[in-house]
Amino acid sequence: MSQHQSDIKRVTTHQLQAMKDRGEKIAMLTAYDYSMARILDGAGIDVILVGDSASNVMAGNETTLPITLDQMIYHATSVVKAINRAFVVVDIPFGSYQGNSSEALRSAIRIMKESGAHGIKVEGGKEIKESVQRILSAGVPVMGHLGLTPQSIFKFGTYAVRAKDQKEADKLVEDAKILEDCGCFAIVLEKIPAALAGKVAEQVSIPIIGIGAGPHVDGQVLVIHDMLGITQEFQPRFLRQYADLDKIMTNAFVQYINDVKKRDFPNQQESY
Ligand code: KIV
Repeated sequence: MSQHQSDIKRVTTHQLQAMKDRGEKIAMLTAYDYSMARILDGAGIDVILVGDSASNVMAGNETTLPITLDQMIYHATSVVKAINRAFVVVDIPFGSYQGNSSEALRSAIRIMKESGAHGIKVEGGKEIKESVQRILSAGVPVMGHLGLTPQSIFKFGTYAVRAKDQKEADKLVEDAKILEDCGCFAIVLEKIPAALAGKVAEQVSIPIIGIGAGPHVDGQVLVIHDMLGITQEFQPRFLRQYADLDKIMTNAFVQYINDVKKRDFPNQQESY
């Protein structure tokens, strides 16, 4: 049976909105490659984010800044090939939308056209309003991202919790309303006080997806390498580790190395 004939119902922006409206939480995780995306989609994830965190966990960079548009498209293309159900959102990387709204639109269109993804994500509020409007007017679903926006890490100077003071909290609420008014289908809130995130989820009608933003939001997102315990050095308070893949993989590798060294692998059944 072809994918089109199957009875798997693809997740859409309308379904995500309906999930918020009926109080069903949205589950989102990142993925950057075909094999991980296939497992994730099969497990029933609602949204897959091809995050620019690929810069950290796939390429080993300290920040998300170095990853390029071409590299994001490469990751997104691999992920999209594995998907039957999930909604796939791709980060527009640093330096490919901040220049002006034409550049932002061009980058968004390249992502959609070349990868087959279903939407894009941008970091920022009021200051990128024109770009968001331009991308949306081309029919591309846009997810916002406020709070700790990693592309601005050198402006913040630290990965500490954002919007703890009233001025920044007020700006965040205002930015969320701007993104909603523009027509964004959802907003990620990263590393902000739980009460503030809850207030935003209450005051805007579109789904709010939190990472380090507490339980009073419409869904949650984590970086897949962090929740699987592949990254060991990143242990923020908000992270729940669902597996210790570092340990499991290391054990498997050590066993394989030993088997090869002691000529146990391959055995007769494993040979032609
Ligand atoms: O790039 C990423 O993985 C993200 C999530 C942390 C939301 O933006």
